Amino acid sequence: MGELVKIFDTTLRDGEQSPGATMNVGEKVRIAEQLEKLNVDIIEAGFPISSEGDFEAVRAISRAIKRCEVAALARANPNDIDRAWEAVKVAKFPRLHTFISTSDIHLTHQLKKSKEEVIRIAARSVARARRYTPNVEFSAMDATRSDIDFLIAIFETAIRAGATTINIPDTVGYAIPSEFGNLIKTIRQKTKGIEKVTVSVHCHNDLGLAVANSLIAVQNGARQVECTINGIGERAGNTSLEEVVMAIRTRKDLFPLHTRVLPKHLFATSRLVSKITGMVVQPNKAIVGANAFAHESGIHQDGVLKEKLTYEIMTPESVGIPKSSLVLGKLSGRHAFRERLKDLGYRLSEKDFELAFARFKQLADKKREIYDEDIESIVVEEILRMPKRFKLVYLNVIAGNVTVPTATVQMEVDGKLMQEAGFGDGPVDATFKTIKKITRTKSKLLQFAINAITSGTEAQGEVTVRLEEKGYTVIGQGADTDVIVASAKAYINALNKMEFKKQKLVGM
Ligand code: KIV
Ligand code: ZN
Repeated sequence: MGELVKIFDTTLRDGEQSPGATMNVGEKVRIAEQLEKLNVDIIEAGFPISSEGDFEAVRAISRAIKRCEVAALARANPNDIDRAWEAVKVAKFPRLHTFISTSDIHLTHQLKKSKEEVIRIAARSVARARRYTPNVEFSAMDATRSDIDFLIAIFETAIRAGATTINIPDTVGYAIPSEFGNLIKTIRQKTKGIEKVTVSVHCHNDLGLAVANSLIAVQNGARQVECTINGIGERAGNTSLEEVVMAIRTRKDLFPLHTRVLPKHLFATSRLVSKITGMVVQPNKAIVGANAFAHESGIHQDGVLKEKLTYEIMTPESVGIPKSSLVLGKLSGRHAFRERLKDLGYRLSEKDFELAFARFKQLADKKREIYDEDIESIVVEEILRMPKRFKLVYLNVIAGNVTVPTATVQMEVDGKLMQEAGFGDGPVDATFKTIKKITRTKSKLLQFAINAITSGTEAQGEVTVRLEEKGYTVIGQGADTDVIVASAKAYINALNKMEFKKQKLVGM
């Protein structure tokens, strides 16, 4: 198992400093509860002096969390420290985290203080925090651009004043792994008293090196990593929690250490943070991105189907993703296509299989990724010949900036001609509402997307809609040079699929 590397999560403090990621108190408590489930060691809940909202959030989290330490951030001054303590004191395991800048650039241009003054302030602040709690962290802001002798001197001072964790931040994301590793090593070798405290690192991702820097620091003796879910944070973000945890776990040969994090909750935590902050996770994001376990090339898919170890260094299940998703595309072969059909519950004769495979290849030439719904649509509509209850006959839409958008729609429903008109919040909304009225359907619209198939204003617009009813989803597509007509076609296509599904699935 090896020594413990503590995971200090700062999603709710540094993570919230991402532009646009502001969360309310309830949302922060919800994330903190999920972090507790994930089993992080410390949750940095906020910066209480910065606002009433932050103060309230730190206090609410301190009350709610029972198994993790809860940290509150404070600049190195009495007001900040007192306010931070006021917010965090109700926690079962409170921590005060105080910081001051140490680089010449910050001392000259921001603090306008001498090194001697900064050392005195650090000593007084740690001592004040220490009067409240024995759990005090001291951070030297902009450590990686600071004079090493000064850094060692301030850390010795903080340790003498009672700090129990010494944090070395790469505040501006400037360090390169080899130099950051050496910095940690030197500080551990030369700072008197360092063996009594936990050495922590806090890296920013401005050069895309936050995770690499945190890992080299761990190899050089750091035993706390400060990080955030999905790597969110100030500017380019912080060290990504999921990446550090999984690197330590996956490369046990290089890290004879452990964290307490339960990786099976990583995916759900990532989704929750993304949903609450509105910060979308890029599809190719390591560990938690939509494509992180998606094998696209035929050779990779064939290998994974034979033995997962061929192309998977960790299983999707281990991070909480139910199963590896093979995204089918133009490079996919018969093997992968047959497996997916099986997963979807279709057993086709050899003749029908060959027909379906040929159609799939044609579609994959036009469309990069083929989803389950696309395959279902090939099988259902083209191989098993889905009956169409609904057909569009006529569509007329009036829209503009001085008129209420109105749609008049004529459709065939089970062979009977029907017509209706209706209003909406825009031409598409008016069209969909009117179609819904005619077809008397209850499906909920989950997604609507327009894509231009060709360039220019005369381009063919391809519309995709995703509908849901009683837990079942279908995708409908429609193309036309008029995007409103394309939208109507896509919506009706999806409704027909849902009708077909309803007939086939008992109890819907
Ligand atoms: O990046 C930084 O230096 C910080 C400190 C407050 C630890 O966030
Ligand atoms: Zn930071």
